[in-house]
Parts: sequence; structure tokens; C-alpha cells
Amino acid sequence: MRGGPGGRRLSTYAPTGARPVDTQPNEWWRRAVIYQIYPRSFADANGDGVGDLPGITTRLDHLVDLGVDALWLSPFYPSPQADAGYDVADYRGVDPLFGRLEDIDKLISAAKERGLRVIVDLVPNHTSSEHPWFRAALPAGPGSPERNRYVFRAGKGPAGNDPPNDWESNFGGPAWTRVAERDGRPGQWYLHLFDTGQPDLNWDNPEVREEFRAILRFWLDRGVDGFRVDVAHGLVKQADLADWRPPVEPLSGPGTEAAPRPPMWDQDGVHEIYRDWHRVLAEYPGERMMVAEAWVEPVERMAAYARPDEMQQAFNFEYLLAAWTAPAQYAVITRSLEATGAVGAPTTWVLSNHDVIRHASRLGLPLDAPRPRGIGPGDPKPDPVLGLRRARAATLLMLALPGSAYLYQGEELGLPEAMDIPDEYRQDPTWERSGHTVRGRDGCRVPIPWEADAPSYGFGPTDASWLPQPESWAEYALDRQRGVPGSTYEMYRSALRLRRSLGLGQGTLAWQEAPDEVLTFRLGDVLVLTNFGAEPAALPAGTRVLLASGPLEADGRVPTDVTVWAR
Ligand code: NOJ
Repeated sequence: MRGGPGGRRLSTYAPTGARPVDTQPNEWWRRAVIYQIYPRSFADANGDGVGDLPGITTRLDHLVDLGVDALWLSPFYPSPQADAGYDVADYRGVDPLFGRLEDIDKLISAAKERGLRVIVDLVPNHTSSEHPWFRAALPAGPGSPERNRYVFRAGKGPAGNDPPNDWESNFGGPAWTRVAERDGRPGQWYLHLFDTGQPDLNWDNPEVREEFRAILRFWLDRGVDGFRVDVAHGLVKQADLADWRPPVEPLSGPGTEAAPRPPMWDQDGVHEIYRDWHRVLAEYPGERMMVAEAWVEPVERMAAYARPDEMQQAFNFEYLLAAWTAPAQYAVITRSLEATGAVGAPTTWVLSNHDVIRHASRLGLPLDAPRPRGIGPGDPKPDPVLGLRRARAATLLMLALPGSAYLYQGEELGLPEAMDIPDEYRQDPTWERSGHTVRGRDGCRVPIPWEADAPSYGFGPTDASWLPQPESWAEYALDRQRGVPGSTYEMYRSALRLRRSLGLGQGTLAWQEAPDEVLTFRLGDVLVLTNFGAEPAALPAGTRVLLASGPLEADGRVPTDVTVWAR
């Protein structure tokens, strides 16, 4: 070691807006490749071990060289960092940990000079408990306008000693915390679907709605091209706050007709908020956009967030979670395209982010293994060779698909999950709140390696790193891969260059082969083939391979877990 996130018919979700869906089929976000930067782990300019905005600015050329269209910045706002910045104390500032307000202005203009669009994270479901609104709510007492910005309720039982309902926090433990009133006695309880330091806002309160319109305008005025909307499916709760048996997967609800949606997720009322925000963005020139982080299923419910008068995109988490088999991949791709196509939105594709096991490791787990929420020193480990091989194949498949693709920092290096972080270094609130039963997301958040032989692998000028970096990461460093034929970095670069020149990422996909073991489709004159089967697959006669995720057989056939682009 170095250094210290149904079953309803689609018709239920027909577009409600007046604008016909095809009037502007060329907006940049319809086919953009968007690179997620997790600021604390990308580049550290001041050497304190935590990445910062000036660090990002100095490394922007990496994104240009890579060939992406836009970057998405996870939160950099003033925050006590109870949940790595997803607990926002001031929506209009920059945390000193990451720099100053002028640093974000510099970053935005430096990105624009390079032709890169900038998306920022918006966290509207909850504030930090250190936000001035919550600090004012505590002394203001029950029934006050200050408390009405949040979800305060009396407890159950004669003395109110039990939480108002049985909801659980996503990070473990109850979703309610009791406060002491002014007389020092235990009083009301407040709702927090995440950490205690993340009180949920009351979106029935017009003041909350007005404040977020103003926050959108603040960042739109500063030149951002869009917003990634955190917990977009959570803002509106069922009015009666009814009890709920916790779902098996805490970040998503089943949402099927057989199993009704949980009272805290994906309530129909959220959509009015996004129609309102759509109107705010429409006041601005330059194709501004929003992408929903909504862990909902089925995909039709996800697509509802991207109707023409709401957000422009929604993350396709069903795709991220799909099994690495030809039938599963075929099904999720087909259903995703149908669902988003029905509302005139582009499909998004994503394999990794700061909340899930990196796909170079995830895909190395046995196909029937349950999806782990963090991997620790004593846990069963994925097969690293198989994982990277499948990750590369999955990436080439993804980058050909019509729609917008999201990349997570470090995946272009083939970076695996950091699986040996000592438990005492863990910072994800999940670890503590679950009573040390769920390790959480630190393993995908470790600062990324730039230079094999530099302190902190070139993350910063010193050895400092807020999470320890594995010794094995030298071989993944950018300088070890740049210019090296066949390296994961060069595969990403070639893919992004070819995607642009060949017009991939857009158009109509035409399946060529039944999805038992080999997936084959055409997009324009490009043929994309992924072999999931045990035997090598032959390409159609006369095709020329443009790019492959791994070496081909001597006779030109495509081995197991390899994707090729051919013509
Ligand atoms: C989703 C974010 O991606 C995750 O990191 C965060 O913990 C929760 N929302 C709460 O804001």
C-alpha cells in the first residue's frame, strides 16, 4: 500500500411535453462520451493527499488525448465530507479541500478552451446537517417554517421513542435520527435516507423548489453545460410515509406490478420537479442538459426521467448490472433502446462509477456470484486476468452502441478495484453504519496512478493519498501504457477516435446473430462482434478488423471474451 446506488406499461409514461421528440436530433449529449471525475481522487495539486480543482485543470489534456466530449465532476462544494461531498453545506461554493470558487471558473474555461463540456453534480434529495437551513431548523423547533424545509416528525409510542416509520438508511441502520429540543429533552425525528449528516429535504415546500431553481441558475450562469442529478428518484416520498419492508437491493425498488414501489423511491411526483427544471435550462442557450441518477427498474421507469420535457438522459443502471452473457447483454441493450427510443431520448451506457465495484474486477467474479458491496482483504477475490479481458470487451461493445457513454476515471487504465484497503482506512459511511458488515465503496475511489515511479504514482507531488494506493498499481500508470500498442489506455484512445470517425454511438443498431453465445450487430457499415462462447467465433468473410479488445486467433477468429469492430 502507498499513502495513508413497474412492470408498468410504457404507455403510462408517454411524453407529457409539447415539444416533438425529433426536432433537435443533433444535440451534443445524444452521443457524447462523458468522463466522470471524482475530484478527491483524480489529481492533487497541493500535495495534501486529496485531489483538487487546480489538479484537475492541469490534467485536462489527458481528457483531450483520450478523446472524450465532456467531463462530469462529482461534488466539490463546501461539505463536512460525511459522504465524500454528497452532503452539501453550501450549493454555491467550493470546499477549501478542493480549492476556491475562482478555481472552478478557471477549470470551466480551461475545459471550454479545449472543446470539453462540463457537467456538475446536483444533490437535491438532502443537504448536509451543516447546511444553514438545517442548523436553523434545530433550534426553531416543531412546527416552524425552518423545520418544514426537512422531514421532521414525532416519534411513535407514548413518549415518541420509536422512529416515525421502519425505513432504513441506504448505508445501514434506521433512516431517522432524533433531535434534542431547546429544553434539552428528546424531541422530533428527522428523515435521512442516507447518512445522519444528510437530512432529506421536504420537496412539498415551495421554498425548497425555489431555492433549487436559483442553484441551477447560479451554475448555469457560471457556464456549466449540465447537471448530474443525485438520487433523482428520491425527492418525493409517499405522503403517508408508510412502513416498508426494506428491499433486497437498498438502492433500487422492485417497481413491478407484483411488488409495488417503495414509498421513498420513484414516486410519480418527482417528475413535476424535472419538468420545472427543464424550463429553467431552456432559458439558457447552448443545449444544457441533465442526467438522472435514478436506481429504478424496469428500464421503462428509468426512461420516464428522460421524457422530452424532463431530463435529457438517465443513467442506465440495468445495463451496468447486466450479467456478462450474450442473452443478458442482448436483452438489456434491446430493452434499453426500446424504452428510451419510446420517449425520444438517447440511451446511456455505463459500466463503472464511484458507487460500484470497478468493472475490471466485477466482471472477474463468478457469473452466479451475488453483487458485492465492497471487497475487503478477507473476501473472495475476482479473477484479475479474466476481469480485465471481459472489461475490455465490454468497453468496446459499449462504445459502439448508439447513445451516450459514461466513463469513470481510471477505467481507461484498466484499473481494478482496490481490494486490500485495511479496514481502519475505510471512509465510506456504509462501513460504520452497517456495523462493519458492508465494506462499501472505497475500493473504487482510490486516487488514480499517472506515473509509475513518482510519489503517489503522480497523483500529487507528495506520497500523500487519502486512501492507500495498492503496490500493484505501477503497472496501470498512464506513463506505462501511453504509446504501448495493445494497452488498455491505447485501446480506449483508438476506440474513441474511431467512434468519432466511423460515426459509432449513433444511428440504428441492426442485430445480425441470435444471442446464444455471440452477439453481432451492424451500425452503418461497421460490424461489432462480441464472443461470449467457449469456442472462437469466425467473422463474416471479407471483413477487415478495425479494432479488437484482445489478440485474435492466428486464423483471424475472435476468441472468448473479445469484442471486435470490423468493416
Ligand atoms: C448517489 C451518489 O452517487 C452516492 O455516492 C451518494 O452516497 C448517494 N447518492 C447519496 O448522495
